[in-house]
Amino acid sequence: ESYDMGGHDTYMHKEISEQADAVDRVLRGRIDDRFSTVHLGGLNLDAREARGVRRIKILGCGTSYHAGQIGAQLIEELARIPADAEPASEFRYRNPVVDPDTLYIAVSQSGETYDVLAAVQELKRKGARVLGVVNVVGSAIAREADGGMYVHAGPEVCVVSTKCFTNTVVAFALLALHLGRIRDLSVADGKRIIEGLRKLPAQISEILAGEDEIKRLAAKYADARSMMFIGRVRGYPVAREASLKLKEVSYIHAEAYPASELKHGPLALIEPAMPTVAIVPDDDLLEKNRAAMEEIKARSGRILAVGHQVQETADHTVVVPKNENELDPILLGIPLQLFAYHTALAMGRDIDKPRNLAKSVTVE
Ligand code: AGP
Repeated sequence: ESYDMGGHDTYMHKEISEQADAVDRVLRGRIDDRFSTVHLGGLNLDAREARGVRRIKILGCGTSYHAGQIGAQLIEELARIPADAEPASEFRYRNPVVDPDTLYIAVSQSGETYDVLAAVQELKRKGARVLGVVNVVGSAIAREADGGMYVHAGPEVCVVSTKCFTNTVVAFALLALHLGRIRDLSVADGKRIIEGLRKLPAQISEILAGEDEIKRLAAKYADARSMMFIGRVRGYPVAREASLKLKEVSYIHAEAYPASELKHGPLALIEPAMPTVAIVPDDDLLEKNRAAMEEIKARSGRILAVGHQVQETADHTVVVPKNENELDPILLGIPLQLFAYHTALAMGRDIDKPRNLAKSVTVE
């Protein structure tokens, strides 16, 4: 992959389209079928040290923070280590307690985001161990970290991050599997996750082949002044990232909430002019998500669902291929990257360089 536009009109479209190959790259050479695990040579964390980790704190900004939220869930699910993600800027300004048994992970596409770099430097000054999950090789955060993994998304030029988000989440899945297999994840579960990871590139290609349908749907929702995005647990960070994508590139106001929070306030916003994008995977929360959609329908809200089967309550559904429950978030967000892209295109936006934004925020 290169800086050449390769026949695409925008880098955003090019980068969305490259995701099957990009995911193939982050997986390549890392899977160990013999022990149903993955090799991550650059972590600089041996098995004994990994077993001593009591907590994981993930730090990033914007899209990288959202990828870190999914990463934290993957680590909790597969490795059973308490984990959470926080915006790096919030972390560094609140004088956090730095705990020697916590492993810190800095996430960044560019590896140059000032708030993330400053958080890493502060952590290191206090003696913490910090890993980097970074795209740009040799960048400041990659150099400053004690170890880590490159996400191998290739050059990302569009200000709006797409393929790097996907690859970062896959990188976290690898890390979670690696830590899980050092701890209590069974061989059978390790094998199940590896099989799921191997399916991803073909499933991404299948989603991208449905672009015309997503373009048609984007035209139906492009008149909205504001949109709501909802999801539960695994679907919530997906909703947050999809909402950020839409606002960055189309300038349509968008809000993301856990579906369970609707009744605590945001339901007051629902009316025909405020459509909702609902992330509704086929998992143990499907019935709960259906109930939230019923609540929205009862207030005459339009619904675009993204899930694994057609949802009768929704006005439209984008059906994505099913993977293992833990890996579903990787695929659920991809149609919504195309949705944001086609909405912005229909509105004549400057897609690769949205107003007021820079690709890499290297100042405070
Ligand atoms: C992504 O679409 C954004 N433009 C932005 O939120 C970005 O993810 C953020 O500034 C962090 O950048 P980084 O990953 O290079 O650190």
